[in-house]
Amino acid sequence: MLPPLRVAVTGAAGQIGYQLLMRLAAGEMLGKHQPVILHAIETPQAIKALRGVVMELEDCAFPLLRGVLATDQVEKGFGDVNLAVLVGARPRGPGMERRDLLSANAQIFAEQGRALNRVAQRDVRVLVVGNPANTNALVAAANAPDLWEEQFTAMTRLDQNRAVSQLALKLQCAVTDIERVIIWGNHSNTQYPDLSHALVRGEWARPRIDDAWYRNEFIPRVQKRGAEVIEARGASSAASAANAAIDHLRDLWLGSGGRWQSMSVPSDGSYGVDAGLWYSVPCVCPGGHFRRVLDLPIDEFSASMMERTRKELVEERDAVRHLLPKDYDKAFTM
Ligand code: NAI
Repeated sequence: MLPPLRVAVTGAAGQIGYQLLMRLAAGEMLGKHQPVILHAIETPQAIKALRGVVMELEDCAFPLLRGVLATDQVEKGFGDVNLAVLVGARPRGPGMERRDLLSANAQIFAEQGRALNRVAQRDVRVLVVGNPANTNALVAAANAPDLWEEQFTAMTRLDQNRAVSQLALKLQCAVTDIERVIIWGNHSNTQYPDLSHALVRGEWARPRIDDAWYRNEFIPRVQKRGAEVIEARGASSAASAANAAIDHLRDLWLGSGGRWQSMSVPSDGSYGVDAGLWYSVPCVCPGGHFRRVLDLPIDEFSASMMERTRKELVEERDAVRHLLPKDYDKAFTM
């Protein structure tokens, strides 16, 4: 049996955290031979609810679960962790502007970045789910100077899964027939779900779909799917978000088998995106890390969509500059 891995989850008693912990403990993220010790992190106000979640984890008698640490102290929670899933974030309150939300969350993620820097395993992999996920990842990484920025990724896999499903419904095929659907940019409604490189059973998908459906139905539907779920369910996406986090980290850790998976990763300047922004691009994962898929041809329509979401990420970065170390700015002027 492999030695256990320590996996931290913040927001562990929230909607997504609740689902995620169960599936992690069942071996769905790291494989059926990988024991885990879960570090469940919450705010002091949610510690009672978290106790209930821990009881349920015990009551599942998961064979791979070797322990649970439940805490409201980030340094304790991130101690020696191999993986950290940062889900907990402040929701938008009444009268709160987008800028206020960005700033409130950026402070949380700055603190978590510093804590990871101090106490996590040196090769920790961090997935940011809590919104605004891309910019929160930037802030966390910027506040963890002893870790590589590539150790931090943010989640756009839910957007990719949504896009793949919509295309499968349209073409009446299985989701497994579809490859190379890309989400570019921000996990927000400026994201660009791109089918120009998509394959269906190894053949180009684009000739099989008309422009009107692609531009007027598919793209806005994927961009606004979160709101559509809230409208129907009365609550935001939770099971599908936890599922996407499982998919993202499973592929990153165990390998994506050559398949392209969209991940928000620190930009290296490719595709005209400012270095140091966390921007979603297609990646392949050989196991343990990601490689960006580079040099794809970008047509005029795609370029304008990619530019729009890039601009939003620049604005988000500028709104949290006060939380970035001074010398980190250099990365933005490359
Ligand atoms: P929720 O409100 O049900 O749970 C959030 C939990 O985080 C709460 O239990 C809260 O006590 C906890 N929390 C807040 N601040 C914390 C901190 N500093 N440390 C530890 N725990 C903290 O929310 P839900 O539905 O679980 O969503 C969580 C986040 O995930 C939200 O920001 C949401 O917008 C985001 N999200 C991101 C998606 C993506 O694709 N990237 C998809 C769906 C949601």
